[in-house]
Amino acid sequence: GAPQTRMPTGAEAGAPTTANGQQGAFLTTAQGTRLRDTDHSLKAGPRGPVLLQDHHLREKITHFDHERIPERVVHARGAGAHGVFTAYGTAEGVTRAGFLKKGRKTEVFVRFSTVLGSRGSADTVRDTRGFATKFYTHEGTFDLVGNNIPVFFIQDAIKFPDIIHAGKPHPDREIPQSQSAHDTFWDFVSLHTEAQHHALWNMSDRGIPRSYRTMEGFGVHTFRLVNEAGETALAKFHWKPRLGVHSLTWEEAQMLGGVDPDFHRRDLYDAIEAGAFPEWELGIQVFPDTPEETFAGIDLLDPTKIVPEELAPVQPVGTLTLNRTPTNFFAETEQVAFHLGHLPPGIDVTNDPLLQGRLFSYVDTQLTRLGGPNFSQIPINRPHAPVNDMLRDGFHQHAVHAGVAPYRPNSLDGGNPFPAGDDEQAFLDVPVTVAEAPKVRANPVSFDDHFSQARLFWLSMSPVEKEHIIRAYTFELGKCYHQAIKERQLQGLANIDPVLCAQVATGLGLPAPEPTVPLADVTPSPALSQVGGEWPSD
Ligand code: HEM
Repeated sequence: GAPQTRMPTGAEAGAPTTANGQQGAFLTTAQGTRLRDTDHSLKAGPRGPVLLQDHHLREKITHFDHERIPERVVHARGAGAHGVFTAYGTAEGVTRAGFLKKGRKTEVFVRFSTVLGSRGSADTVRDTRGFATKFYTHEGTFDLVGNNIPVFFIQDAIKFPDIIHAGKPHPDREIPQSQSAHDTFWDFVSLHTEAQHHALWNMSDRGIPRSYRTMEGFGVHTFRLVNEAGETALAKFHWKPRLGVHSLTWEEAQMLGGVDPDFHRRDLYDAIEAGAFPEWELGIQVFPDTPEETFAGIDLLDPTKIVPEELAPVQPVGTLTLNRTPTNFFAETEQVAFHLGHLPPGIDVTNDPLLQGRLFSYVDTQLTRLGGPNFSQIPINRPHAPVNDMLRDGFHQHAVHAGVAPYRPNSLDGGNPFPAGDDEQAFLDVPVTVAEAPKVRANPVSFDDHFSQARLFWLSMSPVEKEHIIRAYTFELGKCYHQAIKERQLQGLANIDPVLCAQVATGLGLPAPEPTVPLADVTPSPALSQVGGEWPSD
């Protein structure tokens, strides 16, 4: 038979584990030698110099000196929790994913985050929030790495370093630490007008959530689902919070940033400890998988576009309940590693150029952040499905692999690569036709529309939400030093809506420009202005 090559799963290892470093009643060195004194260095007499031979002193200080790992290059500030996902079975017609079959319960770990701030930054800043979920499914791990805003700043991952360089603090003075109130951010947004839609969501109350528990989550990209019969559909993932969608006011957010910068992680931790388990419903918008990959004229490969829910209702497929706080922040929340390529059978990718670039980026950054290629062996990252791979050796290798033939097929270790019947369990790439087309660095023409959905969002807001948006732009743009940047961004607002532009211009003491593109003729969405959600089972 096949050699035993798998690591114990997190569950088998009894995760969260205290196996390393907390056994027995006595303090020891890392080698298990019992210690008598950990408060005094070994010296040549009470007043003499410290001796190099003091191994305990050196081990203690050396390990401390290396306690830190690099923070995430984005989404550095976060908070996580364990939970369980229970499927309704309503997705069985469109996907063969086993974790979505009726009644199936799957363990999960969720990490919420801000995007731009450093690890120690405040929770309540105006920013996008990450909403990343690791489903430890019995068919392999599925990571749904989403945000609380359904669109993204850019359409092509090649611009990700650029938007993040523009959004992070200025290289010279390292300010602002975590907000969008600065020249480079608005320089980028006003020059790369595809970013206007996401920026508008940021300036709305969605940019300052009341709690992680009151945020929606979105997979953003369109994914391709495949069912038992091999039929495909396109889909977008949505998380709907049990408590409804709620935001802070700007004044509350500002005050909390000073009074309690840990407001969101405290709220999450306290709620779970008190037994008020946060809940979300997972839903999907499903679209026919046509060669055009559009729905109602909307390009499904463009991550700066939503599909309004009144055109494609979100169909509930299961419930997420967060019911356990991490035992150790570093071991779990800091070391968890998400990746869009972690897909179970039944869920596949599309050609969205932002998604395609993300498929490269996450593992690449984790190789540095988590110190080499074996981070899937860290307890929080271990699949709860059996693992039998041919990956060997490398830094921080914890598995003791048996056998002599880590290649398939082989004639020594029972190495039949794909036993009969395997198709029923295996991930099979959907054999999508790839068009014969010239190599180009270009977008589809449909990606050129940068303003119509921003206008749709603006017109869908209630009067008080509009007022908050105007004040947010006025505050954030008011922090820019360069007048030319404010003026260029006012041009962007003019192309979204003349009223929005005029009000912000007045606040900034600048003239309001005329639109340079025809204003889109859009029907406001009732769903977007809805604050406070409805729970379908209520
Ligand atoms: C981290 C979401 C676009 C690169 C994250 C995290 C989330 C997220 C939620 C935090 C994961 C965690 O909690 O550990 C998104 C969404 C995007 C997007 C929703 C667009 C729809 C991109 C793009 C790139 C990228 C285009 C690169 C081309 C990264 C990197 C990290 C990260 C490098 C840090 C990962 C780590 O250190 O473990 N992203 N992201 N993201 N994202 Fe994205």
